[in-house]
Order: sequence, then C-alpha cells, then structure tokens
Amino acid sequence: MSNVILVTGGRGLVGKAIEHIINTEPEGSRFGKKPGETWIFIGSADGDLRDVEQAKKVFEKYKPTHVIHLAALVGGLFKNMKYKLTFLRDNILINDNVLHTSYEQKAQKVISCLSTCVFPDKVEYPLDETKIHSGLPHESNFGYAHAKRLVDVQNHAYKEQYGSNFTSAIPTNVFGPYDNFDLEDSHVIPGLIHKCYLAKKNGTPFVVSGTGKPLRQFIYSYDLAKLFIWMLREYDDVEPVILSVGENEEVSIKEVADAIVRAVGFDGNYTFDTARADGQFRKPASNEKLLKLIGGFQFTPFELALTETVKWFVANYENARTGKKPSA
Ligand SMILES: NC(=O)c1ccc[n+]([C@@H]2O[C@H](COP(=O)([O-])OP(=O)(O)OC[C@H]3O[C@@H](n4cnc5c(N)ncnc54)[C@H](OP(=O)(O)O)[C@@H]3O)[C@@H](O)[C@H]2O)c1
Repeated sequence: MSNVILVTGGRGLVGKAIEHIINTEPEGSRFGKKPGETWIFIGSADGDLRDVEQAKKVFEKYKPTHVIHLAALVGGLFKNMKYKLTFLRDNILINDNVLHTSYEQKAQKVISCLSTCVFPDKVEYPLDETKIHSGLPHESNFGYAHAKRLVDVQNHAYKEQYGSNFTSAIPTNVFGPYDNFDLEDSHVIPGLIHKCYLAKKNGTPFVVSGTGKPLRQFIYSYDLAKLFIWMLREYDDVEPVILSVGENEEVSIKEVADAIVRAVGFDGNYTFDTARADGQFRKPASNEKLLKLIGGFQFTPFELALTETVKWFVANYENARTGKKPSA
C-alpha cells in the first residue's frame, strides 16, 4: 500500500532526526522505511502553515495519508516571555490549519508534538499523561503552553465528532544534530556546546549560567525520531504518550557541562555564574506508559549522544544555526 507521510517542521531538530533515521535504518525494519512509503519533510519555505490557504496548498500538493506535525513557533525562555501573544496565536493557527486540513483531506492519522512545558506549574511529580490540564502552566510560557494544550483538546474533539485518528507525543528536552545553537536563544545543551567551543577557540573561560544543580531529562533527537516512527506505525489512541528517558536518568546541568567540556576537549578555566537564575530544580516525567507500550527501548547513552552532537556541531559550524548566519 502506498502511504505518504508528511512531516511538518521537517527542517528543524526533530524533523531532520526523523529524516536521518528513515534514511539510515534498514528498509522494512521497525524504524526503517516500509515498502511503498514516501516521506516528505517540509519547512516554512514550503508554506507558512499559519495561513490556511498555504496549508491547503501543501496538503493538495503532497496528499498525505499520514502526518507527523512538528511545525511550531519554538523559543527559549526570554522569547516566550516577551512574545506570549505571538506564541499563542502562531501556534494556534499552525495547529488548527494542520489538523483541519488533515481532516478535510482525509489523512488517516496525525501525530502532533506537544512538550513537557505544557504541564501545570504546580503539580505532583512525576508528570504523566493524565496531568496536562490539571492546573495552569508556568506563566513564563503560557502562550506556547495553552496553544499546545489545545491540540490535545482538538484531538479528542476530532475523534468524538468525526472518529479521526489524531494523537500527540510529549517529548522532554531534545538535543542532537541540526539543533539551534544560537548563543542567546537556544536550549541549554546547544547553547553550552557553542559557548564551550568558542571558549576553546578563543582561549577564554567557559562560564555556565546558574549553579549547575538543576536536573533535567534529555532525549537524543535520533532516539526521539525512532519513537515517533513507532507511534506512527503502532500507536492508535487519542491519548498522548510522553517520549522520554526514565525518571532515574535525570542529569544535572553540571553533568551536562562536564560532558561538553570532555567532548569539546576544553581544558581552560570553567566556572558557574551563580548570580544567573537556575529555573525549576527538576520536573521529572514518567516514561512508564511508553515502555509498557513499546515493550522495551534502547536509549542512546547520554554521553555518547552528546559526543555525537558536539562532533556534528564542530563539523557543521559554518552551517549550523548559531545566530551569526541564517538557518541551514
Ligand atoms: N527542542 C525541544 O527541546 C523540544 C522539546 C519538546 C517539544 N518540542 C516540539 O518539537 C517540535 C519540533 O521542534 P524542534 O526543536 O525541531 O524545532 P525547530 O528546530 O525550531 O524546528 C521548527 C520547525 O517548524 C517550522 N516552522 C516554524 N514556523 C512555521 C510556520 N509558520 N509554517 C511552517 N513551518 C514552520 C520550521 O521551519 P523552518 O526551519 O523552515 O523555518 C522548522 O522546520 C515542536 O512542535 C516543538 O514544540 C521540542
């Protein structure tokens, strides 16, 4: 049977990882391409999904049978705080256009991407799939969080009204090749890799913001890619699934920075700027549902994944998204 899988946001960190896995896993294997499948990866240059007409054009062009919906306005804390309305509106528009066009054009299945940022600020840990709507999100990202939460609401409404097979995935912090390595507006791992790389290159100190004590769960983008492919093939329920390493695999920011120092080969002065904010100490998420469903999964060891990411960044420094050049 010929299936067309359209990946929106296909030129970003997660989309490029799915493309890599689909192109490198053995054909016909659990995470590899199946016979008759066509995978299409689109970015914003293929159509601005905030605009319904452009969304319709993309869908008319590719006629997807399945959609992995990753496209989103994504940003760090500062950007989220400054542009709450833009994060709310852009993401609502993108999500509504993708879901409704998928419905109208009879896509058989849509998996949308949420984030652990959508969970309530005041909540009992660990986070699990039942707690998305049980309290207000943190005020710093309420625009992004509410827009993402609405996807879960929409998925249930499409299922109840039309029987649609729409669902969502909730990844924890993702890192890997093709990330945004901007020094100002990136997530912690790519930002620190870039800082450490420059410290080595310029012979300057490597300064990590905060105490280094907070704990986070990080998932390698290539592992996450496999989990999306698993969901596409084997998961047909509207309820979301948290895609993450286990709660017992939290790492501290200091452990992250130590591993970066080793991978970059930096031997200069390395300190913590404890005057800078730490953010939440920890917000563990449970991957119990995922492991039960998938029946075991081999996550790439953190240090190995980090080393691969550093290697990729160094080899692609001129083209990586670093703030000094437009996206590759
Ligand atoms: N990174 C994380 O740690 C993390 C954690 C949890 C969840 N997520 C979720 O994972 C998904 C993918 O994130 P990512 O980290 O891969 O982000 P990313 O690297 O910033 O990629 C975002 C993608 O969305 C596309 N896009 C943005 N605005 C668009 C628009 N108006 N129309 C069409 N396409 C648009 C971008 O296209 P161009 O590049 O062509 O502009 C890009 O392909 C998002 O839904 C995000 O919320 C990410």
